[in-house]
Amino acid sequence: MKALVITEKDKPLEWKEVADLQAGPGEAIVRVHAAALNHRDVWIQRGQYAGLRYPIVVGSDGAGVVVAVGGGSSASGAWIGKAVIIDPALYWGGHAAYQDPLGFRILGLPDDGTMAEYVRVPIANLVEKPEHLSFEEAAALPLAGVTAYRALFTRAQVRTGERVLITGIGGGVALFALQYAVAAGAKVYVSSGSNEKLDRAKAIGAVGGTNYKNPDWVAALRKLAGGFDVVLDGAGGDGFSDLLDLSVPGGRVVLYGATRGNPSNIILRRIFWKQLNVLGSTMGSPEDFAAMVGFVSKHGIRPVVDSIFTPEDGEAAFRLMEEEGQFGKIVISFQQSAIFSW
Ligand SMILES: NC(=O)c1ccc[n+]([C@@H]2O[C@H](COP(=O)([O-])OP(=O)(O)OC[C@H]3O[C@@H](n4cnc5c(N)ncnc54)[C@H](OP(=O)(O)O)[C@@H]3O)[C@@H](O)[C@H]2O)c1
Repeated sequence: MKALVITEKDKPLEWKEVADLQAGPGEAIVRVHAAALNHRDVWIQRGQYAGLRYPIVVGSDGAGVVVAVGGGSSASGAWIGKAVIIDPALYWGGHAAYQDPLGFRILGLPDDGTMAEYVRVPIANLVEKPEHLSFEEAAALPLAGVTAYRALFTRAQVRTGERVLITGIGGGVALFALQYAVAAGAKVYVSSGSNEKLDRAKAIGAVGGTNYKNPDWVAALRKLAGGFDVVLDGAGGDGFSDLLDLSVPGGRVVLYGATRGNPSNIILRRIFWKQLNVLGSTMGSPEDFAAMVGFVSKHGIRPVVDSIFTPEDGEAAFRLMEEEGQFGKIVISFQQSAIFSW
């Protein structure tokens, strides 16, 4: 089979022949129709991720068709031929509140991931592809989709009519959070470093937004919305302090990433005096994943796909992600590959 391989730190991806996969007990082999990028994949290529190993086939997001299962029970055999999306949270463990500190892994490191013609995953991580989605749309959903779902619903418990601020709307998680929060009847505001992305967010249902590159963006947001019951942030950095300012007393601030690093300016008094709830969130449990797929199906939500690349152009897809030029998910379609045959 062929795969997009990172052979060494900082080396361009290579679309090359690798060893075929065999399914062990409890595992499935999925013929990947489409895979999608997350920032994690680029950081792995840049050598900026814990537990690195090379060569590695990255990719946490994928959709395709099950072609083989290990173990041979009739229940697992029923998966063969089914169109699926893959839950990339492997071995979450028995606690809904947090992932197993020892067993938990994200598909795509240390295990080889979805940027290949075939991927091997636990059968427990297969979920039937929502019928209203193409393979490219379905591949865009898993990691960012479940992270947004857990952050918004399981952690922040967002309710109809609440004011929600979602930062960095060009991000994959942020955009799903916008779609979900709008579907849930929240009043959603966004921030972005791009005015064009703000306009696109409004077209999806955001009430308003401001550009975080403008010095007065915090005051402008306060003028627009007053304050926020719920804030969702994946950027962190010194801007996180502004988010505590923008929260109403008793508000919930969910942090799922730190693209801008650790803050140096947090005023702790703001957290305790305003009785804020600062909540960490990472990916989602199997229950979150199933609920997310159900929510997406019920509301007919279609992931926003920025662009679709061939595997031969995989390196260009990674550079687009690094430049933050996208609005929505960057997808690699293996259906367009010359050697794809059904
Ligand atoms: N905990 C988890 O389970 C989990 C899951 C997925 C991702 N993450 C983390 O969450 C972060 C976002 O990941 P992603 O894949 O959703 O995003 P992404 O697609 O990589 O996009 C990153 C976005 O960050 C935004 N950004 C940059 N500087 C910002 C700032 N100063 N303030 C606000 N936003 C800013 C930009 O938005 P604009 O283009 O609109 O300016 C950019 O598009 C990453 O750190 C990632 O590692 C965590």
